[in-house]
Amino acid sequence: MIDEKEEIKDTEDIEIQLFLEGMYLKYGYDFRDYSRRHIKRRIKNLIALNSFNSISEMQYQMLIDYNFFKSILPYFSINVTEMFRNPSLFNFIRKEILPLLSTYPMLKIWHAGCSTGEEVYSMAILLHEYGLYDRCQLYATDFNEDILNKAKEGQFSLEQIKKYTNNYIQSGGLEDFSDYYTIHYQTALINSELKKNIIFANHNLVTDQVFGEMHMIVCRNVLIYFNHTLQEKVIQLFKTSLCKGGILCLGSKETLLIDKEKEIEVYAQKQKIYRKSY
Ligand SMILES: C[S@@+](CC[C@H](N)C(=O)[O-])C[C@H]1O[C@@H](n2cnc3c(N)ncnc32)[C@H](O)[C@@H]1O
Repeated sequence: MIDEKEEIKDTEDIEIQLFLEGMYLKYGYDFRDYSRRHIKRRIKNLIALNSFNSISEMQYQMLIDYNFFKSILPYFSINVTEMFRNPSLFNFIRKEILPLLSTYPMLKIWHAGCSTGEEVYSMAILLHEYGLYDRCQLYATDFNEDILNKAKEGQFSLEQIKKYTNNYIQSGGLEDFSDYYTIHYQTALINSELKKNIIFANHNLVTDQVFGEMHMIVCRNVLIYFNHTLQEKVIQLFKTSLCKGGILCLGSKETLLIDKEKEIEVYAQKQKIYRKSY
């Protein structure tokens, strides 16, 4: 019985909670601490797209039909990305961060939530131009297997390449951008020389652990989809993964609340770059 003083929860909110619990219990994908506004929007889109009468009806289908689950999984994450996205950030990395990283004999850089790979390929180009690529191991991770496969392929349309070339120039790139790909049937293929030190791997920021000590972690436009509790948890994962003096780079709309222990310091507020304290 409902105590009148208790808040009566909206039925739709309860259905969403149950849907997310069900997905986690059955398949291990945990969206319970993603921003509820984002999840609600995605679930409503899916209901309309598949003509279900309710969230509960879709939940039942998701639980009994693995293929249906696989088909809706991509709807819970946004994969928008581009090469040299926010060119001024890459300009800053070029001028301020690479000189700092060049003091290490070997480098490990982790792109968490790499989507289709554009971000890690941009970093590979910067490292190559700065002469650091050969002593660098890059890790590009995402929890979406299909997206990771696309990232590994490194194939982009000519329309995308046009935009990426502009971004590259705006980021201070002085080389001929077309040196970094070859054209094959109207598709640009990223050169294998840029791929050779990149490991693409499945890693879920919500459920997976630390896998190495990093000199730099780039995680842009991912935390924005998480609630506060989950953001804190993932930031803790990054703090543990970074070596002392290691760099953390977040997206332009993401901010890290500086902790009392001062484990991490602001390095460049405007660029959302932080540094683990010594
Ligand atoms: C908007 S894209 C950002 C891509 C790139 N970092 C950028 O800023 O251009 C967000 C990516 O985060 C990934 N993602 C979302 N939740 C994740 C999780 N729990 N673990 C790993 N990756 C996740 C999505 O699959 C998606 O590819």
